[in-house]
Amino acid sequence: TDVPSLRAALLDWYDAHARSLPWRAPPGAEAKTDPYRVWLSEVMLQQTTVPHAAPYFERFTTRWPTVADLAAVEDAELMAAWAGLGYYARARNLLACARAVTAEHGGVFPQTEAELLALPGVGAYTAAAVAAIAFDQPANVVDGNVERVMSRLFALETPLPAARPELRRLAALFVGEHRPGDWAQALMDLGSGVCRPRSPLCDQCPLAFGCEALKTGTPERYPLKTKK
Ligand code: ADE
Repeated sequence: TDVPSLRAALLDWYDAHARSLPWRAPPGAEAKTDPYRVWLSEVMLQQTTVPHAAPYFERFTTRWPTVADLAAVEDAELMAAWAGLGYYARARNLLACARAVTAEHGGVFPQTEAELLALPGVGAYTAAAVAAIAFDQPANVVDGNVERVMSRLFALETPLPAARPELRRLAALFVGEHRPGDWAQALMDLGSGVCRPRSPLCDQCPLAFGCEALKTGTPERYPLKTKK
């Protein structure tokens, strides 16, 4: 697997095809998105789709432009604003995290993955996503989209969920110091728009030249899943 060529191909594709999203800086931008906006968008997106989350994101950030503004909200007010996003435990965690950033970090998000991980409600995925996207750190951001892309690139025959550690190791091969935030978001866009669970659009895929699953003729067979 030619990691440098695949990396270059996906970053070029992202430069041309990145989705413009309310929480996203343009590809290659020097100024990264405010970590508050990255964190908020990632928590919302663990819950729902991009089109469903976008209006919530706009409402939240208009009403509460900073993490300190959000931290000052009453629980009931936040729950009301969260209605429709579901899973209220996440909203409670959101408030706990906003309050911790405000009280313990002076309203400034910490920059390392380890410190982010120590915040209430911030798990491995969110810590990595904020470190990469807001701070351009080489964090390994692995969600279901990334697992699918990696399982196909390598035609991994190990089924999910057992394949998770291996998929994480494969994803890490591609993480580097060059544009780590764009890399993470390029993989997300590829996974959701091109390397789709069913009917992947391989003729539009910038990684098709190195995809082992495509060579098998049935890329949609990956990732394999253990029958429940
Ligand atoms: N899904 C989860 N996080 C995302 C992001 N930052 N951009 C696009 N889709 C996402």
